[in-house]
Amino acid sequence: MQPREKILEILKEKHDEFVSGEYLSQQLGISRTMVWKHVESMREGGYIIESVTRKGYRLREIPDLLLPAEVKHDLKTEFIGKEIHYFNEIKSTSAKAKELAADNPDGTVIIAERQIEGRGRMGKGWYSPPGGIWLSMILKPKISPDQVHKLTLVAGVAVAEVLRELGLNAEVKWPNDILIDEKKVCGILTEMEAELDVVNYVVVGIGIDANIDLDMLPPITMMQTTSLREALGGDVDRIALVRGILERFERHYTAFLGGDFHSILKHWRNYSSTIGRRVKIVAGFRTIKCEAVGIDRDGALIVELDDGTVEKEITGTCYHI
Ligand code: BTN
Repeated sequence: MQPREKILEILKEKHDEFVSGEYLSQQLGISRTMVWKHVESMREGGYIIESVTRKGYRLREIPDLLLPAEVKHDLKTEFIGKEIHYFNEIKSTSAKAKELAADNPDGTVIIAERQIEGRGRMGKGWYSPPGGIWLSMILKPKISPDQVHKLTLVAGVAVAEVLRELGLNAEVKWPNDILIDEKKVCGILTEMEAELDVVNYVVVGIGIDANIDLDMLPPITMMQTTSLREALGGDVDRIALVRGILERFERHYTAFLGGDFHSILKHWRNYSSTIGRRVKIVAGFRTIKCEAVGIDRDGALIVELDDGTVEKEITGTCYHI
């Protein structure tokens, strides 16, 4: 544990009490001057830490930032988020995850307060202002490339569940969106680096419009989008939300790796806003209008065309019409 993290942990444990510089220096095995320097750098990072002569330090306020020490505090996971790379501003957390994948362990998470070249599906951009949750997970599953698309559904179920726990009617739209009242609040982008039959790594990128005013978004996006701030009528605790998503994702991901995709699908069907709807599917150069009738055991959308033919769609963009 870094000295900063350790100092924070101690200050948090003591809640509203003062902790002496002497005590911190003994606990960390560093001088009091070094303790003071770390405290100063934490203040620069937005922590409000009071210091009073002969009493010591007291933590008054934690900044509203997705700092690794905050996310990791009390994070109940075995491997997801044990390593977190944090950026105030970055091009794209998923692009960064790909750069870092070779030298970082399974479950490493990249988080940014703001992305300047956020990426969506199908080569689209993803507007990512401050206040949102923009994160990517590096995963190294021992599965074949043709199973990787299922991870989008695993992540979708995890996010939907955590949002439902906030009292929101979050629904999943096949294959990768989370909607509230038919408006998109979260997008998931699953990418992989693979050889013919071996996956080297997967990057699951999750973007949530959390504490965002809709008028901060470009007009076209604004029409089809909502934010948690809008839906809840107030701000969410982004740190708790990220923690919840990492924990829930790990639980479902572990079940999936253990061979249980069935239970993920069961949840997915419960949360689905796509099944039973008339949809338009655009896959490559082909566009079809049809009824979405179900999801099969591999996560493919089962659709019924107007002539009664039944088809399965593994990938593509789906529009509710
Ligand atoms: C979609 O098109 O719906 C997927 C959007 C995925 C956005 C997230 S934000 C974090 C991660 N980094 C990116 O550049 N994209 C994903």
